[in-house]
Amino acid sequence: MTRNGTNEEDARMRTQVGIVGAGPAGLMLSHLLHLHGIESVVLECRSREYVEQRVRAGVLEQGSVDLLHRTGLADRLLREGMRHEGIELRFDGESHRVPMTELTGRAITVYGQQEVVKDLIAARLAAGGSLLFEADAVRLDGLDSDSPVIHFRRDGRDEELHCDFVAGCDGFHGVSRGAVPDGVLRAYERTYPFAWLGVLAAAPPAVDELVYANHERGFALYSLRSPEISRLYLQVAPDEEIAAWPDERIWAELRTRLETVPGWSLNEGPVLEKSITPMRSFVVEPMQWQRLFLAGDAVHIVPPTGAKGMNLALADVALLGDAFAAWYGQQRTDLLETYSTTALRRVWRAQHFSWWMTSMLHRLEKDDPYETKLQAATLRYVATSAAYATSLAENYVGLPEV
Ligand code: FAD
Ligand code: DHB
Repeated sequence: MTRNGTNEEDARMRTQVGIVGAGPAGLMLSHLLHLHGIESVVLECRSREYVEQRVRAGVLEQGSVDLLHRTGLADRLLREGMRHEGIELRFDGESHRVPMTELTGRAITVYGQQEVVKDLIAARLAAGGSLLFEADAVRLDGLDSDSPVIHFRRDGRDEELHCDFVAGCDGFHGVSRGAVPDGVLRAYERTYPFAWLGVLAAAPPAVDELVYANHERGFALYSLRSPEISRLYLQVAPDEEIAAWPDERIWAELRTRLETVPGWSLNEGPVLEKSITPMRSFVVEPMQWQRLFLAGDAVHIVPPTGAKGMNLALADVALLGDAFAAWYGQQRTDLLETYSTTALRRVWRAQHFSWWMTSMLHRLEKDDPYETKLQAATLRYVATSAAYATSLAENYVGLPEV
């Protein structure tokens, strides 16, 4: 990053790749570019504390773990991450294990998204990287020139970041996607008639592996963060207010939906955090316009049932990192040109898998007995067919090639 010298122009900075958003996508891209000797600046509208504490996803595919390893970010992940070789499906008062590693040779690792974010921030700062927190990108200009500009506000001042390329990694509500002229992008979308209530609790998990439960009152998921911390989710109405869910109601509903197997009970404890997330499937194509490259939730959202959101964000920027390396290192344009097409193959595989898992496990309509029968048939097929279980497993642990 270089700053122009005069006071007048002090609010102008220059870098090679300007990155909007310090979520998993933006931070990992900045790290990858650094490993390739390419300069970047990351603009993040929230504070460092906020992004490091934001509780979200928790499942890393094998490919994401491999990426963290390859790029020197796996020290703490190796110590604190929990490798899981199977998941459990609970329905009709029965429990069925999908032995993912036996079926695919691969596994997932449970490690909170905010831990990935903390590790990335620490690595970028240790390497002298430029992460500007509380820097709110308000407008992108000159995306069709070879010197685009990100206008942002920091400490009540208007500032500019001039760059060769902009990476829009600013999530679903960011500004980047909206900077593309009308008529260029096409959106594909589905909203679901429910949301997830997510709970983080100081309670030792009563499970070794994740439990996905289909119950007549709605979906429930039992996950974990550590031997002391449970992470739980409940399907709730889309317009549900968090105030309507005091802790006692949450535990009662979790018991109803999860304690369906004889002799099994969950562990309760103080609720540390709770929030409601709407469920949406969303893709915008293409993922690039001129000098703007979009990645992660800025261009695609999946319902969380397949645990794909963070993994897709990391997969996008792994491609983008290589594409920028080819451009700066060998003056090659091919990988930048094919970025969107290549990334969208994985995106659509994950869209289908997430929609499929969501449809199989949630109460879709209040009274649709036909749908309920189809769900039961699908779950039983997964539980009894190695072919079908392998399909679930290979998508869940992440397909190496799509
Ligand atoms: P984000 O993590 O959203 O990062 C974007 C960043 O850009 C944010 O830090 C934001 O503050 C910043 N930003 C936005 N606008 C601006 C601006 N104008 N200027 C500067 N900065 C800006 N996925 C799963 O796989 N499993 C889950 O269980 C799961 N649970 C989730 C629960 C919740 C509540 C949410 C919201 C998402 C969940 N997801 C889950 C999805 C997963 O967390 C996302 O897919 C992942 O965060 C995507 O990473 P990203 O870097 O693309 O976007
Ligand atoms: C978690 C979240 C998911 O969406 C999921 O499918 C599995 C686990 C979690 O936060 O642990």
